[in-house]
Amino acid sequence: MTDFRNKKILVTGVASGIGLAQAKAFLEAGASVWGIDKNLLSEEIRGLNFIQADLSSCDFDELKEKLPDKFDILCNTAGILDNYKPLLETSEAEFENVMLTNFMSMVKMTRLFLPKMIEGKSGIIINMASIASLVAGGGGAAYTSSKHAVAGFTKQLALDYARSGVGIFAIAPGAIQTAMTKADFEGDGKMAAWVAEETPVGRWAQPEEVADLTLFLASGKASYMQGAIIPLDGGWLLK
Ligand code: NAI
Repeated sequence: MTDFRNKKILVTGVASGIGLAQAKAFLEAGASVWGIDKNLLSEEIRGLNFIQADLSSCDFDELKEKLPDKFDILCNTAGILDNYKPLLETSEAEFENVMLTNFMSMVKMTRLFLPKMIEGKSGIIINMASIASLVAGGGGAAYTSSKHAVAGFTKQLALDYARSGVGIFAIAPGAIQTAMTKADFEGDGKMAAWVAEETPVGRWAQPEEVADLTLFLASGKASYMQGAIIPLDGGWLLK
């Protein structure tokens, strides 16, 4: 197991699901972890430095003042779903909110911490993409657009800064059981069962599985994977 002691990590979307699992895994590995979320934590997490902020609308200069100057690893994880709505059922405001949350928050957060990473010739940025970054159908018009933007941003960033010592990756999860996908399990759970059936390996994944991949990407052992957008989807994209 990689030793993350002396590493400073920032995770967005830390109050639930994948972000929460990432933060817990880094804490267990000995890291110093800061987490941001628009919602408060629903459990006490020992050692986590928590800051409440809505990344779709907050002042990023003010946010920066509440955080350390420099992070070794930045996990841009916060995101929202759009209920799989097609364009004409999505208002302009809804579309914009999904783009601000899933995409622009990532751009702004990266802008805050990339310069110090470049200066120190080390750092790792892990963006949360989705299978919706690569194909249609993993969300509605707004979600799929925002996640395709995440893929493009990750690739360009990884290319532009490939010689800087900063590792840049994205994870593209498929069906992960979190608050975001809770609705699929409600009622008779038919939707969740259908998703499992459609997934080649025949099951949903847990957020801890995304955290495991995150820690590998953050370990420094993945540097030759620069710019990779890694599916973690039970084989969904094979079909
Ligand atoms: P979740 O709903 O359990 O957690 C997302 C967290 O982000 C929540 O705590 C929420 O409050 C926070 N958040 C949302 N908007 C925010 C904002 N404006 N400012 C600050 N915090 C905000 O969802 P989950 O599943 O953990 O999702 C995490 C990421 O993984 C998202 O980017 C999502 O698109 C992505 N993803 C999830 C998949 C899944 O099946 N659950 C599949 C593919 C990607």
